[in-house]
Amino acid sequence: MTGHDPLLVRRTRGGARAVVGASLLAGSLLAGLLLAGCGDDGSAEVKLSAAGQRGKAVAEAKGCQSCHTVDGRRSMGPTWQGLAGSQVQLADGSTVTADDAYIEQAIRDPRSQVRAGFENMMPVAYGDLTEESMADLVAYIREVSGS
Ligand code: HEC
Repeated sequence: MTGHDPLLVRRTRGGARAVVGASLLAGSLLAGLLLAGCGDDGSAEVKLSAAGQRGKAVAEAKGCQSCHTVDGRRSMGPTWQGLAGSQVQLADGSTVTADDAYIEQAIRDPRSQVRAGFENMMPVAYGDLTEESMADLVAYIREVSGS
């Protein structure tokens, strides 16, 4: 460290700290504004359409969230983040596009297409969903996919 002016070093460090402090402050203000702007649970969620909101209620009523997240984390089942429109690899080695029809079939008849890397443990009891609830649920999954 010879040749460095200790005062200059100190001044530079102080300056860096001030900059970090200021951007942290700005960051938390921004986060506060974002949180204030979105709904009841305070998480940074995408804005849902009316159908998406109804679908979310269906998902909650059916307990889908006990196995699926919407934030990218793997749970018992795959996350719904990024699902819609993506290429999904199935346990039989084939690849399918996760369009609405795929998502609907995955809910109505989970055994028909099992995702690679996951256990086939999704309950098969969702065949009783009405057409409308199913459409809402698919809309919800599409919207939280963020894709
Ligand atoms: C007991 C845990 C469990 C519950 C409850 C559950 N799932 Fe699943 N789900 C899974 C697992 C595990 C997979 C992956 C295996 C497969 O493809 O069947 C999966 C796959 C899926 C897929 C295909 C996802 C992909 O990435 O290919 C969709 C869509 C889905 N579930 C929707 C739902 C919906 C909607 C509900 C509620 C009505 C629900 N799941 C409830 C465990 C569950």
